[in-house]
Amino acid sequence: KNIALVAGGYSGEYVISVQSAVTIENNLDSSKYAVYKVIITRESWSYTAPDGTVHEIDKNDFSLTVNGNKVKFDAVFIGIHGTPGEDGRLQGYFEMLGIPYTSCGMVTSAITFNKSYCNKIVAAFDVVNVAKSMHIFRDQPYNTNDILAKLRLPFFVKPAEGGSSIGMSKVKTAEELQPAIDKAFNEDSQVLIEEFVKGRELTIGMYLSGGKLNVLPITEVVSSKEFFDYEAKYTPGVSNEITPAPVPDDITSLVQQTAGKLYHLLNCRGIVRIDFIWDDTNNKLFFLEANTMPGQSENSLVPQQVRAAGKTLQEFYGAVLEEAMA
Ligand code: DAL
Ligand code: MG
Repeated sequence: KNIALVAGGYSGEYVISVQSAVTIENNLDSSKYAVYKVIITRESWSYTAPDGTVHEIDKNDFSLTVNGNKVKFDAVFIGIHGTPGEDGRLQGYFEMLGIPYTSCGMVTSAITFNKSYCNKIVAAFDVVNVAKSMHIFRDQPYNTNDILAKLRLPFFVKPAEGGSSIGMSKVKTAEELQPAIDKAFNEDSQVLIEEFVKGRELTIGMYLSGGKLNVLPITEVVSSKEFFDYEAKYTPGVSNEITPAPVPDDITSLVQQTAGKLYHLLNCRGIVRIDFIWDDTNNKLFFLEANTMPGQSENSLVPQQVRAAGKTLQEFYGAVLEEAMA
């Protein structure tokens, strides 16, 4: 089977995507799949052959022509974090072409990619707590006094559509709010301001295989930084990631069940990682975000969870790919 593994993308998460693609490529069974890694940037969508020649994708049918032979793909393994691989754009394109792909569909990708709209939808499901938040737009007036009156400090200020904590700040004082908003607006035209929930950060990966939901072990993230920022996410040793999370059994069950419900309610497919905060003082579980294109780099959480579940990454990526083609 010919498989395109797409990586890169247009956002600041390009570098992470390329690292994720290395893990995926190294763990796709080469006796079953002919994998063509296609790097997508704004300038080019291209495949570099082992002999160093570069081949551009024909966007009319997402095919390649290598040494005079046309290569069409049986499926696409999407490994792009951020736009256009996580936000529904490529999903819609592959749907129009009728090429199977490994991730959530177009609508689910678009909804979950916008943290602000996703919060509102998840709150409406009524299966988990969601922190109070406000959603502001660069081209519409907003008033920081209004934000400070409606929400209780500290806040997280995040680009509504982003990832890997790029452009994100934790705001503890009123004076820090405007600079944090400006920083987030550098990344995106929409910003989410969310009340900080004190508690323990728990995250859980899931995937469908044989039509059945597989729930991976939970990871607890203990960051030595103020929050689990870009450096803490990708520099070994800056955060302590413990899998399975050392939490009471009833919390493990609650997180697994809630995550499974959200996977179905959001109509997910493929690998999804949902992040939560367990407020252990008040024993309340809060939804943080749903990642429909979770990192697969060596230091990323999902590969750690797969190993902790006693599975190989080759079994895992193979199952995800077969499910997409089923
Ligand atoms: N956005 C990063 C890749 C993640 O969610 O793992
Ligand atoms: Mg994320």
